[in-house]
Amino acid sequence: MGGVSTRIVSVRAREVLDSRGNPTVEAEVATAASVGRASVPSGASKGKLEALELRDGDERRFHGKGVKKAVANVTKILGPKLRGLDAADTSKVDAVMIRLDGTANKSKYGANAILAVSMAAARAAALANSVSLFSQLRKRTRYALPVPMMNVINGGEHAGNGLAIQEFLIEPVGAGTCTEAIRMGSEVYQSLKGVLVAKYGREAINVGDEGGFAPPLSLTRDALQSIREGVSKAGYGERDVRLGVDAASSTFYDQKAKKYVIDDETMDAGELEDFYSALRDEFGLLTIEDPFHEDALEEFASITKRLGAKTKVIGDDIYVTNVKRIMAGIRAKATNAVLIKLNQIGSVSETEEAIELAHKAGWSVAVSHRSGETEDPFIAHLATAFGSDFVKTGAPARGERVAKYNELIRIEEELGPRAKFSGKRFA
Ligand code: PGA
Ligand code: ZN
Repeated sequence: MGGVSTRIVSVRAREVLDSRGNPTVEAEVATAASVGRASVPSGASKGKLEALELRDGDERRFHGKGVKKAVANVTKILGPKLRGLDAADTSKVDAVMIRLDGTANKSKYGANAILAVSMAAARAAALANSVSLFSQLRKRTRYALPVPMMNVINGGEHAGNGLAIQEFLIEPVGAGTCTEAIRMGSEVYQSLKGVLVAKYGREAINVGDEGGFAPPLSLTRDALQSIREGVSKAGYGERDVRLGVDAASSTFYDQKAKKYVIDDETMDAGELEDFYSALRDEFGLLTIEDPFHEDALEEFASITKRLGAKTKVIGDDIYVTNVKRIMAGIRAKATNAVLIKLNQIGSVSETEEAIELAHKAGWSVAVSHRSGETEDPFIAHLATAFGSDFVKTGAPARGERVAKYNELIRIEEELGPRAKFSGKRFA
């Protein structure tokens, strides 16, 4: 398999900037016929079991955040060992790097180094074969365009306001196509801007890391209420544009007291479950992500049992895109959906395994960006290739977020009548 043209000839890497202005790894994999380039994102509210993002720690450069070591690991160690391999054989390329690294969390050479090469190799193969990345990632399948989960109000670690919940999302499931969903999301975003200015003044429309507004609010209901007004002002009904939250609740969990601090209250897990349940009923939430801290498997199972028939309970930090962790979640019936982030696990093939496992369990899948992103639209292709239900890639604003939405518009156009839109599953 794999013609001569997809054999890897050389691998390069460099340090570039992410959307927060921090350095990250960009790799280039060359075949005789192509050069595939890819860059990796970086999170702020990371799960503690994520694969390791290697940083230099040299305070003289980028406040210690440089990635020169990871870059050197690509150019001096990983790259030379990949020469001659078939770039199209993602599992093989990844397996070689994983074996060389030899650690469980990619801490020797860095998940940022390994993932950049893994992604760049897939892209090099697509270019050499003159096919789009999504069809290189998965051939002979029925592709599906995901429902955008657009983060229109930012809180938690992504903003400087008092909102404990990290992300307030709009999900235009009533659209006929992904492109239409993106338009609807953009219209709601602009309407929400007007709502926030009218209610709280112009300082309410400064934006957070993912392009969502970061109004000076501290109560969850106030944020959801404004979004609801934005949806209606844009001319949509509550069934057309559903709402969701990513609590990222490890960030407001007090480990010592075993309590959650949210909305000027201190709640135990049971009280927090009641709180989410009330919000679900009041605002018709379609998705609730990371409602409890990242080790709280039983609490997840409890809320999934209670709300799971109508609501997608999504696990992010609790699974970290790790097949073993997801397997434990399936056994415990902890959630009915999973968030998928390439850099939590650190290679394309392991990410694909995680998605396949979740699908087999009947779970919904949401492919996700990170709060620190680059202009690389790789996840638009990944989500489409695997028929992901959702893609979470920020507000319909800021270049690094829009890069993904715009790529989905192009993919949908390329697929034409072959394109299927996942929104129909939820409308
Ligand atoms: P992060 O957050 O990229 O800052 O880790 C995203 C999320 O929690 O989904
Ligand atoms: Zn999350």
